[in-house]
Amino acid sequence: MSVDGKIASVVRDSRLSCPFDKRRQHALRASHDAVVVGASTVLIDDPLLTVRLVKGPNPKRVIIDGRLRIPLSSRVVTNKDAETIVLTCSDNSKSEKIAALLKAGVRVLTFPCVNGIINLSEALLSLREEGISSILVEGGGELLWHFFRLSLVDEFRVTLSPYVIGGRDAVTPVEGHGFGTFSEWVRLRLIHVIRCECGNEVHLVYRVLRPLNA
Ligand SMILES: NC(=O)c1ccc[n+]([C@@H]2O[C@H](COP(=O)([O-])OP(=O)(O)OC[C@H]3O[C@@H](n4cnc5c(N)ncnc54)[C@H](OP(=O)(O)O)[C@@H]3O)[C@@H](O)[C@H]2O)c1
Repeated sequence: MSVDGKIASVVRDSRLSCPFDKRRQHALRASHDAVVVGASTVLIDDPLLTVRLVKGPNPKRVIIDGRLRIPLSSRVVTNKDAETIVLTCSDNSKSEKIAALLKAGVRVLTFPCVNGIINLSEALLSLREEGISSILVEGGGELLWHFFRLSLVDEFRVTLSPYVIGGRDAVTPVEGHGFGTFSEWVRLRLIHVIRCECGNEVHLVYRVLRPLNA
């Protein structure tokens, strides 16, 4: 994110990381069973979510897409270097879209939803049955809110990139409703501070402390 806490600008430009940080990101991908993103990130960035900048295995790609908005032309659908699993709501009436995704070789898992929201605790249990026991959630902010809301995050990593982006409608790392009072805020412990080889970015690794009432 930028130093002023944005992961994408108001026009959704998100080209923040230096090449060294990109390599760290790819190494992180390679060390997890799956990389997870929200539907809007696929729609806006059209990412491949594969490991290309370091040597290592491609994780599975998991897309959280309640309304099944990702296009069939998106690279997570057309690219065959890694398996893609789309998680969506069972009550959406897009059976043709599901059939087209299946035909394209994408796995589709359906879940009962409340107000279009998949319960990510249930989703993680299903992913575990698929052999996925470690995940790297790359964003965006809306999806990360749901992971934090349900206390599903063990480690939170942030790279601070040397930009000020501004904009109240720019995207921040954690969106959603947000936590209200101090007692609800997620507590973090700083584990590592890594100054990037480019000299101008810093990578922060935090452990998430369990809430007092958990
Ligand atoms: N700088 C970075 O490191 C970085 C990383 C990733 C993304 N980004 C940027 O972040 C922006 C996108 O972030 P965002 O916060 O707008 O969107 P997002 O989190 O990528 O996607 C949000 C959408 O995903 C679906 N979704 C998320 N959680 C869900 C759940 N529990 N159940 C069902 N569906 C769920 C919903 O789709 P429906 O509304 O259709 O149900 C929701 O609208 C892009 O501009 C991208 O460039 C930046």
